[in-house]
Amino acid sequence: MARSVGIDFGTTYCAAALGGADAVEEMLPVPGDTSGRGVFPSVIAFPPESSPVFGWDALTWQERDASRCVVSIKRAISKGRGHSSFDTHSAAGLSQEAVDGEMPFLAVGGALKSPGEITALLLKEIHRRAETFCETRISQAVIGSSPAWDAETRNCILKAAEEAGFSEIRLVEESKLVLAAYLQRDRAWRRLAICDFGSGHFGFSVFERANPETDIMTLRPVVDSADAEIAGDEINGMIARYLIEQIRAETATDISKDAELMSQLLREVEKAKCAVSHRGSYDMSIRDKEKGFHYSRAVSRFEVAEYAGTILGGVADSCQKALRQATFRVDDIDTVILVGGVSRMPLVRTLVENVFHKDVFCDWNPDIAVALGAARVAGRVFAKDADA
Ligand SMILES: Nc1ncnc2c1ncn2[C@@H]1O[C@H](COP(=O)(O)OP(=O)(O)OP(=O)(O)O)[C@@H](O)[C@H]1O
Ligand SMILES: [Mg+2]
Repeated sequence: MARSVGIDFGTTYCAAALGGADAVEEMLPVPGDTSGRGVFPSVIAFPPESSPVFGWDALTWQERDASRCVVSIKRAISKGRGHSSFDTHSAAGLSQEAVDGEMPFLAVGGALKSPGEITALLLKEIHRRAETFCETRISQAVIGSSPAWDAETRNCILKAAEEAGFSEIRLVEESKLVLAAYLQRDRAWRRLAICDFGSGHFGFSVFERANPETDIMTLRPVVDSADAEIAGDEINGMIARYLIEQIRAETATDISKDAELMSQLLREVEKAKCAVSHRGSYDMSIRDKEKGFHYSRAVSRFEVAEYAGTILGGVADSCQKALRQATFRVDDIDTVILVGGVSRMPLVRTLVENVFHKDVFCDWNPDIAVALGAARVAGRVFAKDADA
């Protein structure tokens, strides 16, 4: 049976699922997945004397030597990168070098690497794992695309996917992939909105259909926006800046100049932000034994909410602006789906419900919707190509 792969190429997490014309979609298992969420961090480490390592293993490496790791590569190749106030790469100690007319290269482990080269390595690993798991050759892939991608970015991803071993590749809007995954639930809707709150952007899309029999494969989003200023990474940036000031006030040390401590701080901020979605506080700790530096404190849910609030405050505006541009009113939307990791923050669900004055659908695993939808779409489009 011919198999194809659906890929969610996310800023912080990637996920992949397997599809095929007659196959039921299934998630590609992730080695070393400590989260149980079926995703792996979009991180590649370049150890000095071995081949690159990926995902959860790379995250372990990052704790040892962040200068050998590339994080958030999607941010580096996305058009919206210039608008982001928080530069994950610089903050983690990775310098960037602009090359004439090209996307900035990243200096990692003493070598300059292009964003396309790094993306190809990541996709190649997904391709390798998929072939090993299915014990068959796989050449077809559907990859989720962001509305922020311009032609240069799209070409870069297509080229990277070819280098990774795929010969038939489709880039399909992430929102359409979420819709494809959702339709398993077979709900009636006429105008459906999808909010995808990830680490790189807040995506807002609307689909419209004339009647329930309309084939969703023929639909394109009538609204498809991505706001890079409303993003999980931006929330981390707000919290990190606040903690840098707190640490400066309490210890007279400016850790923003120290790549190693900054890298630790960013990891702790990420853990704190996620932890307080489920409990009242998180005990953070950063340490550099050689420099004799140690700082620890509890980060409360209240503090995270306060600093995340500056970013979250933009959610309503972002939805309303996109609706206005399409001359829709809030009441025109009958169904709202919320996906993306940041939707785990209880406040986010409330915010979106307040915008649309209705319950939002978000009681599934928000991390894997794009990948599952991509595998479903892959099964359909490639089967159609074979029939043609
Ligand atoms: N429990 C949680 N509470 C708060 N935030 C969370 C939680 N779990 C994950 N996140 C955040 O969700 C974000 C990752 O979400 P997701 O995997 O949807 O993004 P992505 O697909 O990598 O990014 P993008 O789609 O923007 O390229 C991160 O910022 C992460 O901190
Ligand atoms: Mg995403």
